[in-house]
Amino acid sequence: MKQQTDRPALSAECKAAMERVRRENEVFLAANGRAPRVFVLTFGCQQNEADSEKLLGLSLAMGYEQTDLPDQAELILVNTCAIREHAEQKALSTVGQYKHLKAKNPALLIGVCGCMVTQEHRSEELKRRYPYVDFILGTASQHRLPQVICKRRDASRRVFDREDISSPMEEGIPIRRASGYRAWVSIMYGCNNFCSYCIVPYVRGRERSRDPHAVIAEVRALVAEGYRDITLLGQNVNSYGKDRADGYDFADLLRELDRIEGDFWLRFMTSHPKDAGRKLIDVMAESRHVAHQFHLPLQSGSDGILKAMNRHYDTARYLSIVDYLRERIPDVTITSDIIVGFPGESEEDFEGTLAILRRVRFDMLYSFIYSPRKGTPAAAMEQVPRDVQGARFDRLLQTQNAIGKEQNQPLVGRTLRVLCDGESKTNPALCSGRTEGNKIVFFEAGREHTGRFVNVRIDRADAFALYGERQ
Ligand code: SAH
Ligand code: SF4
Ligand code: F3S
Repeated sequence: MKQQTDRPALSAECKAAMERVRRENEVFLAANGRAPRVFVLTFGCQQNEADSEKLLGLSLAMGYEQTDLPDQAELILVNTCAIREHAEQKALSTVGQYKHLKAKNPALLIGVCGCMVTQEHRSEELKRRYPYVDFILGTASQHRLPQVICKRRDASRRVFDREDISSPMEEGIPIRRASGYRAWVSIMYGCNNFCSYCIVPYVRGRERSRDPHAVIAEVRALVAEGYRDITLLGQNVNSYGKDRADGYDFADLLRELDRIEGDFWLRFMTSHPKDAGRKLIDVMAESRHVAHQFHLPLQSGSDGILKAMNRHYDTARYLSIVDYLRERIPDVTITSDIIVGFPGESEEDFEGTLAILRRVRFDMLYSFIYSPRKGTPAAAMEQVPRDVQGARFDRLLQTQNAIGKEQNQPLVGRTLRVLCDGESKTNPALCSGRTEGNKIVFFEAGREHTGRFVNVRIDRADAFALYGERQ
């Protein structure tokens, strides 16, 4: 690995703006007897969760205190997702609910961040129809939060600057992680794949890999702090390094991270089948820390649809990856994403998807009904009627539920290592946790086990979870 000397750091402008807001927030504290509060709400994927941890980290560094109540806040940040229409509508209706808060608290600033606002038609809509939104902040601009706050405070104008979403990301942004034992680490940003249905390349810009030294230092520090489960993030994580000149790739990074001493699991997502090569699977198989889990979105089991989706692999290639994974890592958990009702999907195409489900036997599936995204090629293709989409979606779920349940049965009677997440949200009488394969387990335990590894003997399993007794 070549030493890079030009590692970017937090800019002087950002630091100066942070310092100014911090001083102003001290004045607020002196006048009100409490610090101003920040409320951060996140929609979307893990990448957005990771970005929100930076937005929160910056806010705390500027002297805000975190609150879970939007009506208590002086700064509200809504980090939005644009992957499907429903995600955008949810974000817009949430922002709509904050209108009355502004009337109650004139000091309140409302910022809308993330994937939705990097689309021109959405930022225009926010500007015109949501006059109480003070600023937008794009997906490559978390470090600009302090500057944007200053700009808004200085001017009577709201700040709707549209920035370059492919600009280099800054290192050194303070991060406030939501968990003390599970961590997201973004290792690359953006996506170059332009799958014909997907908005991500348009809202997150081109692929940019972080310097491996920065990634390794971050993971090492997390392990030293006691983090037990670390997930490397990228829209297409195994294309890491393609923008580097020295050929250093994702498998190389994973191999180096695996050398870090400690008791932790290392995961990564999301992998694209076109970039999931044998080298990566070999590194996984020979590793100490890389969890035996692979999320490999298939999207469709029809070669014609995969071509129309611009996915650059066919079902034979997909199956060969799965076979090699199972050969090298027999206990690997394999999960996937499926889109149902992509334009032009025939009954036969859909049957092809069900056939792959039966052949691969995924442990879990994230399935979505195709949602047209403005500006993507598939939005202009001939659409599958809603009722057909809905009926296929139900059949997909039924098929997968039976498979998922069967996949979990061999675990009954085994004792598994589980990272405990504390009290279950759905069943507060129990604790929940995750296995190395990332399966959810429910069991009885004291809350003091939160963040620790425990051994659980599995007594029962359904399609979505395992149930057992702590040993
Ligand atoms: N970069 C990742 C994840 C992208 S978003 C990947 O390539 O796999 C997560 C999932 O959302 C995708 O895998 C896909 O299944 C789904 N998705 C993306 N765009 C969609 C759309 N327009 N309609 C429905 N589902 C979509
Ligand atoms: Fe979207 Fe495809 Fe990129 Fe994934 S790989 S983010 S599905 S364009
Ligand atoms: Fe949504 Fe953006 Fe993630 S569109 S799925 S939050 S990359």
